Amino acid sequence: MDAVSHKGSETVEGDLVMNFEFRLATLADVPEILLLDPMAEREERRYDYVSRSIQGDMGRTVNVLMLDGMIAAFSVVGEFFGHPFLELIATAPNRRRLGVASTLLSHIETGIDDDRLFVSASESNTIMRDLLIQRGYRITGMVENLDPNDAEIFFVIFKVFIDAQLRA
Ligand SMILES: CC(C)(COP(=O)(O)OP(=O)(O)OC[C@H]1O[C@@H](n2cnc3c(N)ncnc32)[C@H](O)[C@@H]1OP(=O)(O)O)[C@@H](O)C(=O)NCCC(=O)NCCS
Repeated sequence: MDAVSHKGSETVEGDLVMNFEFRLATLADVPEILLLDPMAEREERRYDYVSRSIQGDMGRTVNVLMLDGMIAAFSVVGEFFGHPFLELIATAPNRRRLGVASTLLSHIETGIDDDRLFVSASESNTIMRDLLIQRGYRITGMVENLDPNDAEIFFVIFKVFIDAQLRA
């Protein structure tokens, strides 16, 4: 994953152009990141998970997308059978449906140093599942018995597909 911070701008909400920046998260970002994380309110372990991930625990990388100086989204990329695996992505509630997660995902996809990227989403998370299918991810498996009555669906996208989309 590219560690360099990137800046850009994208037209969202019609004609409104927002300036964004990607960078690696630091420990100082943890409180702001946890505000975006829907599980953080329910799980105290989330603080440890995010802070350890920022420190590179288990080879993880945490990226943030800054919008107007605030963290609008973050992602945690870890490893799955030797391949990059997007463990978590979340957008601030007041920034959703503006293309923020898609922009961060594009950044992750173009930065992977592998021929494929895996992601998972709960079966009940139709928003995340729609987002992935819309981006060309394919369902590659399912694991039951993680959350009660809510299977985890695994998706994959291959680098050749990502590169072809970029050229299109
Ligand atoms: C899932 C999540 C990250 C999407 O973030 P986002 O910045 O709003 O996503 P985008 O604006 O890039 O949306 C991309 C696509 O996702 C789908 N989508 C996003 N929000 C949606 C909604 N409210 N209803 C239906 N589809 C939606 C659509 O397909 C959308 O494309 P479109 O706008 O062209 O129709 C965000 O809803 C979130 O943080 N949810 C809580 C955390 C979570 O569930 N993370 C995923 C599991 S790891």
